[in-house]
Amino acid sequence: MRRLIIAIDGPVGAGKSTVARRVAELLGYLYLDSGAMYRALALAALRAGVPLADAARLEALAAQSRIELQSDPSSGGRLRVLLNGEDVSEAIRSAACARAASQVAQHAGVRQHLVAEQRRLGAAGGVVMEGRDIGTAVFPDAHLKIFLDASVEERARRRLSDHRSRGENIPFEQMLAEVRERDRRDRTREVSPLVRAPDAVYLDSTALEAEEVARLIALLARRRSGEAG
Ligand code: DC
Repeated sequence: MRRLIIAIDGPVGAGKSTVARRVAELLGYLYLDSGAMYRALALAALRAGVPLADAARLEALAAQSRIELQSDPSSGGRLRVLLNGEDVSEAIRSAACARAASQVAQHAGVRQHLVAEQRRLGAAGGVVMEGRDIGTAVFPDAHLKIFLDASVEERARRRLSDHRSRGENIPFEQMLAEVRERDRRDRTREVSPLVRAPDAVYLDSTALEAEEVARLIALLARRRSGEAG
C-alpha cells in the first residue's frame, strides 16, 4: 500500500489536532502540525521584541531560527516542538502565542521559509499534516485532502476547554470574539488564506466525536492508498 500525504485543513477549533494525531496513529503515519511552526516563530518574535507587523525582521528571524517538529508514531503521535534546540511544546500553546502566530503567518516571506520546511518534512509520504493551506499551497497534490469544520460556537467551546485544561480562564464571549477574529485573519489574508480546496472532502465535526471523524478519515485513506497501489 502506498504511503500517502494526507492534508487536514480547517479553521481554529475544528478539531484538527486531535483528529490528525489519531489518524496518524491509526495508520502508523507521522503527525505534523504546521501551526506549531508559526507558533514557535511567534514565540521567538515575542521573546526578541520583534514587532509582529515588521515583515522584514520576521522573515530574517524565520531564516535564523531552527524550528523542528519531532513526531513519534509509537507514542500516540505526541509532537515535540523545538525552537533552536529548546523544547517549546508547552510554551507555544498560550493564548498570547496563538494570537501572535496568526499575525506572523500573514507575511509572505515568513510563509516561504516555513512552507519549504513543511514540504521537506512531508515529501516522503506517510504523513498527516494539519494546517490552513496544506491542501492548497504546501501539498496541492496531496493524496487525500480533508477540510474539517465546525460551528463557530462549538469551536470557541473547544478552545475554551483547551485553555482551561492549561489553567487559563477566559470568558466564553471573549473566546468567541477571538475565534471570530482569527477566522477573519486566516480567511482574508493575502497569502495562502484559509480556503477549502475544490478536491477536499468537507467534514463538519460539530456533532461528531473526534474518534468518529478520525476513523472515517482513516477509512478514506486506506481506500485511497489501495487505489493508488
Ligand atoms: O493551528 P494553530 O491554531 O496552531 O495555528 C496557529 C496560527 O498559525 C493560525 O492562526 C494560523 C497560522 N497557520 C497558518 O497560517 N498556516 C498553517 N498551515 C498553519 C497555521
